[in-house]
Order: sequence, then C-alpha cells, then structure tokens
Amino acid sequence: MISKLSKSNAKETISYALNECRLKTLNLFEGVDDATFRSQYHPDFSPVGWHLGHIAYTESLWLLEHSAGWRCLFPQYRKLFAADGLPKSQRVQLPNLPEIRYYLHTVREKVLEHLEVVNIEPEERLWRFLIQHESQHCEIISFVLEMAKRHQLSVNSYQLSVNSHHDMVMIPAGEFEQGNNSIDALDNEISAHKVYLDTYCIDRSPVTCGQYGEFMAAGGYENPEWWSEAGWQWLQVEKVKQPLYWHSDRSYNDHPVCGVSWYEAEAYSRFVGKRLPTEAEWEKAASWDAEAKRRRTYPWGEELPTDEYCNCDRLIGTTTPVNAYPSGQSAYGLFDTLGNVWEWTASWFAPYPGFQSFPYIGYSQVYFDNQHRVLKGGSWATRPWSLRSSFRNWYHPSVRQIFSGFRCAANI
Ligand code: AVJ
Ligand code: FE
Repeated sequence: MISKLSKSNAKETISYALNECRLKTLNLFEGVDDATFRSQYHPDFSPVGWHLGHIAYTESLWLLEHSAGWRCLFPQYRKLFAADGLPKSQRVQLPNLPEIRYYLHTVREKVLEHLEVVNIEPEERLWRFLIQHESQHCEIISFVLEMAKRHQLSVNSYQLSVNSHHDMVMIPAGEFEQGNNSIDALDNEISAHKVYLDTYCIDRSPVTCGQYGEFMAAGGYENPEWWSEAGWQWLQVEKVKQPLYWHSDRSYNDHPVCGVSWYEAEAYSRFVGKRLPTEAEWEKAASWDAEAKRRRTYPWGEELPTDEYCNCDRLIGTTTPVNAYPSGQSAYGLFDTLGNVWEWTASWFAPYPGFQSFPYIGYSQVYFDNQHRVLKGGSWATRPWSLRSSFRNWYHPSVRQIFSGFRCAANI
C-alpha cells in the first residue's frame, strides 16, 4: 500500500503520498460529531477540528506562500490556525467540518497545480516534511479522539496480573550510528553520528499492563519511595491512580501499558530495580546490526512498515500483545520497538552536533529547553511516514494523553 513511496520519480512519489495521507486524515473524522470536533479535552491539547485546519494552514503557508510565492488564500484563518496564533484554550471557536474540508480541498488543489510546475529537486525535503507534518497531527487527532471516548465512559477499577516475566537483552559495549541523513530526516535527526555505549541490558518488550498492574497492586501510586521528587510532586497535584488508557480487562495483560507520564515510567522502573534507557541505548538496541556494522532504518531492515512487522497506522485501532510481531524484531531481538506504544526515554530532547533548524525554528529548536523528554518508536496510530528508529518525538514529562508506554534498562 505504501510501497509506492520508494518509486524513483519524486513528484509522483510525493503526490501519491500527499493523497494517501489525506484520505486517512479525512477518514479519522467519519462519525465525529460537532461537539467532539470543537471540544478541548485537555489543556495541553487542541480540539481535533483545530488540528485539521492547522494542516491546511501549514500546507498553504509553506507550499503556496513560500514555495509558489502566492498570497495567502484564506487570510481569515491565519490567526486561528497558525501554530503561534492563539493559546490552545481559545481554539474552540472553529469553522465546522464542511468549512474546514473546503479549506483543505482548496489549498490542496492549488498545491497539486503548483507541484506540476515546481522544480522539485531543491524542495523535496520541504514537501516530505509536510507529509510528515500532517502524519504527526493525525496521530495527535487520534490521541484526542481517544480522550473523547474516555470522556464518554467511566473509568473502571483494575484487575491484578500474574505475568511478571521481565526478559532482558544484553547489548555489548561498542560504537553504533545514531541519527539519520536520508531525504526524509527531520532537522532533529540530522546528522548520523557515531556514539560509543558501555554494555547495558534492555527489556525485550515494552512493560505490559500485567507487569504494571503489580506496581499498582503493591501501592506504587501511594509510596514516595519509587518516585523522584518532581514525580511525587506531580502525583500530588494530578492524583492519578492508574495509566490514562488503562484497561481493567485481563485480556490486556500482555498489551503494553499506555497513557503514562514520564514520571510514572520512572517510578515503575525504580520499583523493579531498573531505570529508563537513554535515547541512544534505545536506538542502538532497535536499529544497530552489529554483525553488518550498519544501522537499519527499521528494526527489521529496510522494508517499509506494514502489518507484517508492527502495529501502526491505525490498522488495528488499539494496542496489541507485545510479542505479536516476531518478524518485526531488531537485530538484537527486541520486540515491538516500532508501533504499539511510544516509549519514554531518560533523555532530554537536545540537538545533535551541527544541528540546523528546518524549515523553521519552532519545529524542533524551541523545544531544546531541558523541559521535554524524548519518546521513540511510534504507536498503533503512527502513520508510516513518521515511523523509523531514528525518529524523535518529545513531550513534557507530565504529559500522558499520548499513546505512551516504556521499556526499562539496567546496567550489568
Ligand atoms: C513532535 C509531536 C511534539 O505536536 O508539537 C506538529 C509535531 N510540530 N507541528 C508537536 C509538530 C509542528 C510535534 N511533536
Ligand atoms: Fe503543526
């Protein structure tokens, strides 16, 4: 389905991907009622309708105004849909779905006209950025739709698990290559660079609901012993008792835990005598082929992500057991590194050597502030364009509305 991405003709590849990506974006809104469309479910997240308008706005800004040099087609939307326009709480007064669809459609028609005549070579990276931009907003729409669903349901109590298998893999000391130089690389992934790591151990799979349930049953949320000072403070304010997307149903015992803040991941890790992996440790275990002395784009190699390798792109629509995709294992034998849930790492989001911002400093650079932790690997809702071992996501450690889980690491 996405194999055409690898076709050689750049314009064809891009127009195919633009189209493919857009169909899925619009599909997300099937059955979304007007109240859901414009509701803000959490102060850190805009309504789904805002994201939809912002996709059109961003495409228009970069491809029609910057690339084609045209004037703004919908100046009335500039303030509302610009990333730096209104505070999130003021993004609820929105045009309705048909109006925003009209906006998307009008911009897209002009974009495709422009694509016919543009000299694509010097701009290919920008066009590919926009496909990934839409992909990432799609995933955020998935987060918010999940919050909307939970809003309808009441939260149940949980059941205890029996699964306490903590299988780890030892990664021998040595150099590997972190980052990515491909045409798809976002500014924060560039450049690929060598990193030396000492020997460490890392969980073969993300922490499951069964395992996390033991932490809850042992009073993990009531005992400051497991929490950092910042984490305990966060907990006193938020008063949470379980992950946001917790399932009390035992059949989820072998699914990864989903909807935890970085603080919860940190506390669980301490509870089991482990720690979170650094971003480099995670990336080496997911992407390094020690035998060939080469990095792989995906844990399994170079083939594009499909449902044979991982749970992504909303193909399933929820999490899956952590051992469900044996063919997606990394060279070191890790399961589930891409797809299923994003994985928190111990690392702050920070630039690689020689960083240059693209296409604007607000994409990555303004987040190099030691306030955001890196997440790796993508979730069940991540579009294939944002799914690779070098991809870097980042959120404030208190955020748990994303499809976030984690795996642990340890020194030997
Ligand atoms: C990488 C998901 C943190 O949502 O702020 C979308 C992605 N950047 N538009 C974000 C993004 C600009 C970004 N994250
Ligand atoms: Fe954006």
